[in-house]
Amino acid sequence: MTDSEFAWLCEFLRKRSGLALSAEKRYLAEGRLGAVCRRHALPDLGTLVRRLMAGDPRLETATIEAMTTNETLFFRDACPFNHVRDVVLPALQSARRAERVLRIWCAGASSGQEPYSIAMLIDEFRPILPGWRFDILATDISGEMVERGRSGLYSQFEVQRGLPIRLLLKHFARQGDRWRLSDRIRQMVTFKTHNLLDPCQHFGQFDLILCRNLLIYLDRPTKGAVLEALHRQMRPDGFLMLGATETAHGVSDLFDADPDRRGLHRSSKAAARAVSGEKVMRPVAVSSAPVRTRPAALEPVQRPPLRLVTQKTANG
Ligand SMILES: C[S@@+](CC[C@H](N)C(=O)[O-])C[C@H]1O[C@@H](n2cnc3c(N)ncnc32)[C@H](O)[C@@H]1O
Repeated sequence: MTDSEFAWLCEFLRKRSGLALSAEKRYLAEGRLGAVCRRHALPDLGTLVRRLMAGDPRLETATIEAMTTNETLFFRDACPFNHVRDVVLPALQSARRAERVLRIWCAGASSGQEPYSIAMLIDEFRPILPGWRFDILATDISGEMVERGRSGLYSQFEVQRGLPIRLLLKHFARQGDRWRLSDRIRQMVTFKTHNLLDPCQHFGQFDLILCRNLLIYLDRPTKGAVLEALHRQMRPDGFLMLGATETAHGVSDLFDADPDRRGLHRSSKAAARAVSGEKVMRPVAVSSAPVRTRPAALEPVQRPPLRLVTQKTANG
């Protein structure tokens, strides 16, 4: 692959999936796309790029899928799930007591461990939320990951990563050398292939959106556009959960980060003012300064009587 072919590939990936691939990551592209070449009987990466330039849709999908990083695990980082249990669910339990419906979107759900972790967590709340409906939408750009999530089948290695043994025994059954998630939990989650750069209004609005460990792969303008799209799909009093190393701060002023609960965001006052027509949204300067302001909307809430003990992972 020549330098100009590599530059074309970077631009293709940026436009089609938002992936920001730098020259230092060329080795990554060469390794991952080498496998695509072998699978499609192409002699080298240069040929692959030229076929992409010609607009081969099968290779476009294979290339984008190969370049996604799908690392995930059950109850990844533990803390976000504690925040959902201790802050998000109690707040929504009160705010949605008339409707009794909670809609949750896991955007960039990979092979399903994250939405299923949320489903298992919510299942623990069922006794104190009788008659409630929980809709969890799990989307990912990778059709292969979506299929894996939908299957609800996990290897021994996967169920040993982050899943408390109590929940393994409660919700999974052995199937050959794998573990199959119960229909009860699987039915709570709907999987769909979706690129976050595409329109998503048809999904409707959500009370909680998780978009964790995805923004880190995007360049800043794409991050801003994705956050804007997520904000449109979030109910005004809803919650956004980003990854432990991600923040909307410095990228979008539509969200305020909770300074005490890493990753947790709510719609900002600026966003509310923009909606009421008081002020037009403005881009904000990039800053690495820590977020210090506590959003007024994040009031302390009563803990539910139920406790879910999640294993702390190495990252948590
Ligand atoms: C590192 S995984 C994170 C999975 C999960 N959220 C977690 O934190 O464990 C990132 C996922 O985002 C997906 N992804 C990347 N770009 C995307 C895009 N433009 N639209 C939708 N999904 C995307 C990838 O396919 C991948 O499965």
